[in-house]
Amino acid sequence: MQVKSRLKFPTLAIVGKGAIGGLMGFKCHQLGYNYQHLVKTQPQPLFKVTDITGVSHSFTPNASVITQPNPFDLLILPVKAYQVMSVLEQLAPFIEPHHIIMLLHNGMGTIEQVKEKLPNNPLIAATTSYGAFKPDANTLLETGLGQTHLGWIGSVDITLKQAIEPILSALLPPSHWHQDIALALWKKLAINSVINPLTAIHNLKNGELADIKYNANISNICLEISTVMRALDYSIDSTELIKNVQQVISATANNYSSMHQDLKFKRHTEIEFINGYVISKATELNIKVPHNQRLLEQIRQLE
Ligand code: PAF
Repeated sequence: MQVKSRLKFPTLAIVGKGAIGGLMGFKCHQLGYNYQHLVKTQPQPLFKVTDITGVSHSFTPNASVITQPNPFDLLILPVKAYQVMSVLEQLAPFIEPHHIIMLLHNGMGTIEQVKEKLPNNPLIAATTSYGAFKPDANTLLETGLGQTHLGWIGSVDITLKQAIEPILSALLPPSHWHQDIALALWKKLAINSVINPLTAIHNLKNGELADIKYNANISNICLEISTVMRALDYSIDSTELIKNVQQVISATANNYSSMHQDLKFKRHTEIEFINGYVISKATELNIKVPHNQRLLEQIRQLE
């Protein structure tokens, strides 16, 4: 297919059918996009989605087995941070240098890994605050409308940007494209560095962190992160990070964080890519982050 027409109607491949991946597939289905989920086994049963307004939709998602994907232009990875490299390893025989890769997960550290493995592929990093919950494998509830922040890593051809950005912007709107997505990722990292381990350690819903007894700990965690961010030349104050954390605590008060759920269901957590990432950057910069260190150790023990 000609490059231009391929970009006009790109084929999206979404790895897995987890909560956010499933939601993206549903949006692709609604928008009439050319998409496929890359899944472990076929065939795919009827998928039931209840959208945020309470309306139910049933459809059979397009899917291919991950070991035999149909051709794609844009590969979306809404998987856990620690799964990114193994998924790319599995898909390596099918990934060509012009394929666009999009990362969408909690935590940081995978951009560096992907750039090393696939230095020539256009790369997008994204973060979303959409909420979705899967009570079982074939049912999905859209639990919260959020915002999506996206950015290209490195310089990218303008034609490619103009073709791809509107397509991705429509998926989980409103979408904000950033010149420096790392700043948005750090801000989200601060939110996850507080909410995820604290809710998992103390067995809480997100909203319970609004209790005054957590204030000092939240401030200390945010202060350490803002110190690291400032050393990396981001102009940020810990009060901004604390405010962001408090907003998410109240907006997601009834939810259990992903790390809470991971521990509950005895799954691996993303701690190494969340507080672990903060600690690795702090170590490089010779900054002490004892509060983040303590959370990492507590989660490692619980895992
Ligand atoms: O990981 C999560 O659970 C979410 O990113 C957040 C924003 C902390 C809400 O629960």
